[in-house]
Amino acid sequence: MAVQDGRRLRIMSGMRPTGRLHLGHLVGALTQWVAFSREYDAFFEIADLHALTTAYEHPEAVGPARDEMVIDWIAAGVDPAQTTIFQQSLVPQISELLVLLSMIVPVSWLQRVPTYKDQIAALGPHVATYGFFGYPLLQLCDIAVFRADTVPVGRDQVSHLEFGREVVRRFNHLYGPTLVEAQPTLSEFPEVPGIDGRKMSKSYNNAIDIADDEAATTKKVRSMITDPQKIHRGDPGRPEICPVFALHHLANAERLPEIERGCKSGALGCVPCKMELADGLNRMLRPVRDRRAEIDPASVAAVVEEGSARARGIAEATVRDVKRALKL
Ligand code: TRP
Repeated sequence: MAVQDGRRLRIMSGMRPTGRLHLGHLVGALTQWVAFSREYDAFFEIADLHALTTAYEHPEAVGPARDEMVIDWIAAGVDPAQTTIFQQSLVPQISELLVLLSMIVPVSWLQRVPTYKDQIAALGPHVATYGFFGYPLLQLCDIAVFRADTVPVGRDQVSHLEFGREVVRRFNHLYGPTLVEAQPTLSEFPEVPGIDGRKMSKSYNNAIDIADDEAATTKKVRSMITDPQKIHRGDPGRPEICPVFALHHLANAERLPEIERGCKSGALGCVPCKMELADGLNRMLRPVRDRRAEIDPASVAAVVEEGSARARGIAEATVRDVKRALKL
């Protein structure tokens, strides 16, 4: 058990509810969440307010996406009895902390966070709302309200965590030690490619979903791009640039040297190589899919209610301390 000064250490992480999760979420985030939650007191957030920052024109999609996401979490091994699964909008202390901390955050600090300009460039100027501008501050409030020590995240979130630590340092400097500086923990897995070779992402439509059935997975794998120079069986391939080979790392790790040799020499054609990958992925995903099929979707609401109640209790104490520090 991870304990320091008599206190069980906490991890906190979250995802925006965008619906069903894919292989990238499973190996990049969920496996890590499950491993951490054996040692740490773990808080996992359905970041529905963060979802609204960019999806404010389509709020009706957020609710159903929440349930699908939580079912995937539980199927991947996140245990609702041992962890706190909660919904951001059901913990109003997070929003209260957002207002309190916003007083000390220079606008220039938020402007400097690289995702701000990147996301406007990617999604268009309509996302540039006040709420979206404060995205990293809201994320800090998620973390700080639980006094989390560690935050498992992807590399793309490191700038948000760095920003958050600066805000905590400023608060503690101005008003005395009140908030905890959280450290990111990066997934040790490299980025998971999708079936088109780009990063696996729902928005690229290139994902292998946890909830796909085996036939759908096989069909997607068969359509994957491979080394464009390897056209006929017998042509030597370059596994280091092939997304099929990258996914073999996950599904068929013990067979890698042989697959690599076969691809490079040309003896292994892309079709059998893909079939082996599809079988390997289906084998790897089978226990998660089986668990998924057993989860009653109607049970999700109660899990989230209970988790959110526990989260509110802890968050309330932090907000009280912050208000006291601010002499409110
Ligand atoms: N911003 C994160 C993402 O897009 C999601 C998130 C919201 C989060 N709140 C968080 C992650 C708190 C870690 C901690 O992936």
